[in-house]
Amino acid sequence: MAARRVGMSARLLLCAQRSQVLRPTHRLLSCPGTVAADVKREEQSSRSVETGSEGRIPKKKFSELQKERREQAQRTVLIHCPNKISEKKFLKYLSQHGPISNHFFYESFGLYAVVEFCQKESVTSLQNITRTPSMDTEAAIPFKSRFFNLKMKNPSSQTSEQSCIQCSNHSPPSSKKLSELLCYAESIDDQLNTLLKEFQLTEEDIKLRYLTCSLIEDIAAAYFLDCTVRPFGSSVNSFGKLGCDLDMFLDLDEIGKLNTNKTSGNFLMEFQVKNVPSERVATQKILSVIGECLDHFGPGCVGVQKILNARCPLVRFSHQASGFQCDLTTNNRIALKSSELLYIYGALDSRVRAMVFSIRCWARAHSLTSSIPGSWITNFSLTMMVIFFLQRRSPPILPTLDYLKTLADAEDKCIIEGHNCTFIRDLNRIKPSGNTETLESLLKEFFEYFGNFAFNKNSINIRQGREQNKPESSPLHIQNPFETSLNISKNVSQSQLQKFVDLARESAWILSQEDKDRPSPSSNQPWGLAALLLPSVVNSVSLAKKKRKKPASERIKNLLESIKSSSPENDTNTNGKRTVSTQA
Ligand code: GTP
Ligand code: MG
Repeated sequence: MAARRVGMSARLLLCAQRSQVLRPTHRLLSCPGTVAADVKREEQSSRSVETGSEGRIPKKKFSELQKERREQAQRTVLIHCPNKISEKKFLKYLSQHGPISNHFFYESFGLYAVVEFCQKESVTSLQNITRTPSMDTEAAIPFKSRFFNLKMKNPSSQTSEQSCIQCSNHSPPSSKKLSELLCYAESIDDQLNTLLKEFQLTEEDIKLRYLTCSLIEDIAAAYFLDCTVRPFGSSVNSFGKLGCDLDMFLDLDEIGKLNTNKTSGNFLMEFQVKNVPSERVATQKILSVIGECLDHFGPGCVGVQKILNARCPLVRFSHQASGFQCDLTTNNRIALKSSELLYIYGALDSRVRAMVFSIRCWARAHSLTSSIPGSWITNFSLTMMVIFFLQRRSPPILPTLDYLKTLADAEDKCIIEGHNCTFIRDLNRIKPSGNTETLESLLKEFFEYFGNFAFNKNSINIRQGREQNKPESSPLHIQNPFETSLNISKNVSQSQLQKFVDLARESAWILSQEDKDRPSPSSNQPWGLAALLLPSVVNSVSLAKKKRKKPASERIKNLLESIKSSSPENDTNTNGKRTVSTQA
C-alpha cells in the first residue's frame, strides 16, 4: 500500500454529520439465515469485486427484503437503559419473555438497546409487565408502545456488579480519519470504495430505521387499524449515507381491501366513511391527524411540523431516541417504486453505489446540495445523473428503464395512478454488464460528460438512456422516470447549474493532472478523490468567478500551490464543521 502522509486532512468536509444523528454502537449477533447474515454475505461479495462483472450471488427482491425487515422490526423493542448496566443481567431479565435473536446498544443522548426477540409474543409479554410511569408534577399520557424505559429498582445494589456496556462505535470517521484513509488508499478506485464503506448505512442503522417505522406504525394504527408505515428513499434504496433522513410512507391501501374476496351471496358490505373533495384533501386530513397524534402521544417524537401545502404533503419530525429526522407522507406510492428501481440499479453493479456516494459527497462538499429546500440539486437528481451516465457508457454499465420493462413478467406489472411503473423486480434475471472500466476512469469521465453536457437543450432520462430535447425551459431537466411529464430538478436555478458545471470541469481537470502531478508518498497533499473534496476548490471557483481574471487551469495551479503551503494547524481549525448536513 502506498504510504501517503496526510497534511490537509482536516480540510475535508465530507464527513461531519448532524450532531443529533444516531451513531449506533453495537454488538450484533447475527444468526444464520437472518437478514443480518444475508447482508454480511452480500457486503462481502460486493467488496471482493471491483468491476461489476462478478459471478453474482442471488440477491433478494426489494419486496422480499422489505417484508423480512418489517417482520423483524415487529419483534423488536427499543429500550432506554441506565448508563451503567450489566449486559448479561439485562439480557437474562428480558429472556424471561422469550429467546432473543439479536441485540445491540447505541448512544444517542443516553444509552439505548435494540432487542430483537425470536417471537412477536415476547413483545406482548414484556408489554404486559410494563407499567405507565407515575409522576409528581406532570401527567403521563398512557401508551403501550414498544419503546421502553428501563429503571433500576435499587441502583446502589447494582454498582458493585455492573459491567459497563462495551459500545463499539459505528459512526462514520472524523474528517481527519477519512482524509487519512483516502490519502493512504492505493488508487482512486480504492478511495471510492473506501468512501462507500465508511458512509454506507450499517446493519444496525438499517435495523433502527425499520424499527422506527414500526414504532410510528403502532401510533398511526391507533386510528388507522391495519395501516403500514414503510421506509422509502435513501434509507432503503442502497444510496443512504449515515445520517440521512428517514422517509416514511403511511400506506392505507390495504385497509378494508383485505376482505374484498370474502363476501358471499348477493350482498356487498362497505364501510361508512366520510367523503372529502379530492385525494389531496384526504391526504392532508389524514396527515394532519397523524401529525397531531405524533405531537401529543408519540413517545420520542419531537418538533412535529405539518407541511400540508407542499406538492407532496408531509409531516416532519425528529425521532429523538433514534436521532432520525423523519418525513412522513401518504399517497406517495410512486416514490416507493422509485426506491425499488434505485435499489435494483444499486445492486446490479458494484461500481454504481461507489460512484453515487462519491458524487453525493463531492456535491455536498461544494455546497451543491443542501438540507434546506431551495434551488439546489437534490441527491435524488444526482443519483439519476449517475445512473444516466452509466447507461451512456460503451458498453453500458446499467440498462435503461425501458429495457427493464421489457424483461418484466405478468407479476411485475404495476400501474400507479395511471402511470406505468412496470419493470423486472428479480434482479438476478438481469444480465451483468461486460463493461470493465475502472472507477477512476468513470469518475473522470462523469465530470467531463456533465462538464460539457448541453443542458440548455437536452434533458436527462433514465427511461430511454439517451439525451432528448428538453420539453420545457428549466435550466436542468431530469425526467421523472415514472411520471414522465414531470421534471425532478425543476427547482434548480441557472446559477446552481452553472456552479455544478464549473465544478465538474475543474474536477475533471484535477483528475486529469493526477497521473502527471500525483504527490509523492512523503508529501502532505491530498490527492485523487481527497483533492476533489477540498472546500477550498469551490471557494477558489466562486472567488475566481467574481474576479473573472484567470483561466481555470491557472486557478487550480494556484490553488494547489496554496494547499502545499497551508499548515496542518489551520486544517484542524476547519475540521469538518461546515458539513453539518448529511443529506448528501
Ligand atoms: P437523501 O438526500 O439521502 O434523503 O436522499 P433521498 O433519495 O432519500 O431523497 P429525499 O429524502 O429528498 O426523497 C425521498 C424519495 O422521494 C426519493 O428517493 C425519491 O424516490 C422521491 N423524490 C424525491 N424528490 C423527488 C422529486 O422531485 N420527484 C419525485 N417524483 N420523487 C422525488
Ligand atoms: Mg431521504
